[in-house]
Amino acid sequence: MTHQNINLSQRKRLDDMLRVDHAGEYGAVRIYDGQKLVLEAAGLTEAAARVGHMAEQEQHHLTTFDRLLSENAVRPTVLSPLWNAAGFSLGVSPPSWEKKRPWHARKLWKK
Ligand SMILES: [Fe+2]
Repeated sequence: MTHQNINLSQRKRLDDMLRVDHAGEYGAVRIYDGQKLVLEAAGLTEAAARVGHMAEQEQHHLTTFDRLLSENAVRPTVLSPLWNAAGFSLGVSPPSWEKKRPWHARKLWKK
């Protein structure tokens, strides 16, 4: 994907789409980072490993969008530092927990 043969309007739209997609992947990585940390701290190693696997998948997506941003000379969102903290906070925050388990991890539990 490159900017060849597209007009300025299309370029802006492509830049915006890449920037938003990149931010989404970045946020997902940070949420899983937070959840994994909490699970590890709670000694829930199996669930932490599963969340870690999901984090790896999101990291792969993020790496792909890092490359696409670079190839297309698109800057990441200026909100990246906020996104970093907000994503991680969401991952470790009480609202993401029910019965002391992250919402994603609950799906992984076999009762
Ligand atoms: Fe993703």
